[in-house]
Amino acid sequence: MDRLEQILKEILSFVRDVRISKEELEGVEIIKDIISLFSQEINKKGIIVETDFKDPLSLEVDPNRIKEALINIINNAIQIIDEREHLTIRTYKENDFGVIEVSDTGPGINEKDLPYIFDPFFTTKIDGTGLGLAIAHRIIEEHQGKIDVYSTMGEGTTFKIYLPYKN
Ligand SMILES: Nc1ncnc2c1ncn2[C@@H]1O[C@H](COP(=O)(O)OP(=O)(O)OP(=O)(O)O)[C@@H](O)[C@H]1O
Ligand SMILES: [Mg+2]
Repeated sequence: MDRLEQILKEILSFVRDVRISKEELEGVEIIKDIISLFSQEINKKGIIVETDFKDPLSLEVDPNRIKEALINIINNAIQIIDEREHLTIRTYKENDFGVIEVSDTGPGINEKDLPYIFDPFFTTKIDGTGLGLAIAHRIIEEHQGKIDVYSTMGEGTTFKIYLPYKN
């Protein structure tokens, strides 16, 4: 796929009229799927992946949409880190939410960029579309969830994703 085609595909997935169809599922399974999806890249780059799946993560979400959101967030982390740096994924329950934390030990996000990272087309990459996080944000909002970001320059970045927990 050439670059324009790729951009168009992403724009369409951003603007399309989305109908989410929710299912009861185990969020940890989705995370494990995504890690194996990226396993080649993780091994090639020599990234250290750590997981801490504390509680069962019973979610009521659209599996494909949530997978797309998490892929975008995890992809950013994998792109930005190098050999022997860490990607850590934690899950736990917090009040009525299932929480997924994606942390990397990468360079961090500039304080002046932080307010814009979820805006469509905001990118600091020469080959980025700036749609990855905008799409993730939109998908999480569709689920009445929430996404927060914490970042310290030189230390790394954590995305904290809250999704409706099915009790
Ligand atoms: N884990 C991270 N560490 C540091 N910066 C990040 C991280 N995740 C996102 N960013 C910053 O947020 C910007 C927007 O991310 P987003 O995923 O929306 O677009 P992109 O990655 O630049 O492009 P695309 O997702 O289309 O490849 C990135 O360009 C980068 O500056
Ligand atoms: Mg991205």
